Amino acid sequence: MFKTTKIGHVGFWTKDLDRMEDFYTRVLGFQVTSRSGPGAKVPGGASVFLRCDVTHHEVVFFQAPADAPGLYPESGNSMAEAKPGFQHVAFELPDRGEWLKALRHLKECGVRIEYGPLVHGPEGDGFEAGSGNRAFYFCDPDGNYIELYCDIDTFREEGEGS
Ligand SMILES: [Fe+2]
Repeated sequence: MFKTTKIGHVGFWTKDLDRMEDFYTRVLGFQVTSRSGPGAKVPGGASVFLRCDVTHHEVVFFQAPADAPGLYPESGNSMAEAKPGFQHVAFELPDRGEWLKALRHLKECGVRIEYGPLVHGPEGDGFEAGSGNRAFYFCDPDGNYIELYCDIDTFREEGEGS
């Protein structure tokens, strides 16, 4: 069995990115790591990635539903529904070895990989402001979209990625 370290981040669909960014920064004290427009090459399209610590993001909001591209053809899961609310939860794995072990294990368990494996960045899915992590996605039995990832970017100091 592979090792999962923690919940890394949660993704939500929203109808109003500005309102959510304002709330999470002004009221909760998060920082904006990156903000992408409707044409951004990122799953979900328009988005804002926010962090409360040194990791690239602990929460991310995607504009719903008009800007959600058809990357996820299957209906009936939290990613495809594209309505305000829960989109996906991401669990962190300690390194690439555990992440590859997890990928093999899920396939052996008959779980269908919905998206990935890939790297979120110019060297992978083409998203320039991507978080650098290796990731793949699948659904749990209730249709909750789950991401397993490793190697996400962190910031040693304000504005400095690593
Ligand atoms: Fe994610």
